[in-house]
Amino acid sequence: MKSIVIQKPNALLIDERPLPVPGKGEVRVKITLAGICGSDSHIYRGHNPFAKYPRVIGHEFFGVIDALGEGVEENRLGQRVSVDPVISCGHCYPCSVGKPNVCTTLVVLGVHRDGGFSEYAVVPAKNAWHIPDTIPDKHAVMVEPFTIAANVTGHVQPTEQDVALIYGAGPMGLVTVQALKGVYKVKQVIVVDRIDERLEMAKRSGADWTFNNAEQSLQAALEEKGIKPTLIVDAACHPSILQEAITLASPGARIVLMGFSSDPSQIVQQGITGKELSIFSSRLNANKFPVVIDWLEKGLIDPDKLITHSFDYHHVTDAIELFEKDQRQCCKVLLTFGQ
Ligand code: NAI
Ligand code: MN
Ligand code: ZN
Repeated sequence: MKSIVIQKPNALLIDERPLPVPGKGEVRVKITLAGICGSDSHIYRGHNPFAKYPRVIGHEFFGVIDALGEGVEENRLGQRVSVDPVISCGHCYPCSVGKPNVCTTLVVLGVHRDGGFSEYAVVPAKNAWHIPDTIPDKHAVMVEPFTIAANVTGHVQPTEQDVALIYGAGPMGLVTVQALKGVYKVKQVIVVDRIDERLEMAKRSGADWTFNNAEQSLQAALEEKGIKPTLIVDAACHPSILQEAITLASPGARIVLMGFSSDPSQIVQQGITGKELSIFSSRLNANKFPVVIDWLEKGLIDPDKLITHSFDYHHVTDAIELFEKDQRQCCKVLLTFGQ
């Protein structure tokens, strides 16, 4: 089989590898579609501290089960599946409190173990989630990015009265907007970014109001309108954003962080305690595949609004370069396998 391998930073190869055989409790997935994410590009460029090389990247993938390991139910053969990249032990402290996404021996497919940019991948059977026939392939491959939004919103339980502010109109900001509007029916969702084209995408995903903060102050604009956000999600992830969010937030508001910056954020304690703000963080997803599959079945979210490009996997280098360079036109870029 062919696999997309990052041999070392900046060295990508479409390599011939032996067809993997599923072990006990595993299935083999013949991959149809995969999505490119910022973290794939970070591993390619050598900017992911967790990555070990060589690595088959890709953690957003969909396909059909074509072989079963020992102990896996026969009826799984031929199933259409989306694969949860989070592999956890099931018994450590975080696993025992419903946070397998921060398992003490966490393994993420495509980061710590070979992933889905490949013609085939072997994965634990319980990570391969059956996709109902009513959900098309192109939507099924988008389950993983939406699980990030399911995880974020799961922490804060948005309500219709919320006034939400989302920093960043990249793929992560946009999945969050769709969840807030489509699933939770939040009254007002405001999106801030520095790129007008991305703010247009945010409007298409349901944002009620967008603001470009490249040259103008968000704080002044919100004050003028008398808006105090009750829920703030940082999907732009610059360390300076936390203090701004604390300043802008309504008393009693929730703030969710998604970033992995290693630079410090300067914050004033009084700003948090004085308004009794709740600050959450969200990493990957904790058992959110069935949640998002349900959203898709009910038509509450629309992945088509995020998919801007699709490439045959042989052109993966072009696909990643476009994804990296053209933030104005690109949101989700898909790779097709065997089509
Ligand atoms: P992206 O880079 O495509 O989008 C970020 C957006 O934020 C860009 O449109 C950029 O113009 C905007 N931005 C940057 N600084 C800003 C500022 N000061 N104010 C307003 N907008 C600003 O990235 P993507 O894929 O949407 O991911 C967003 C972040 O989420 C990344 O930092 C990524 O590492 C993180 N992430 C976290 C996950 C988690 O589970 N916690 C999962 C996936 C991504
Ligand atoms: Mn992703
Ligand atoms: Zn664990």
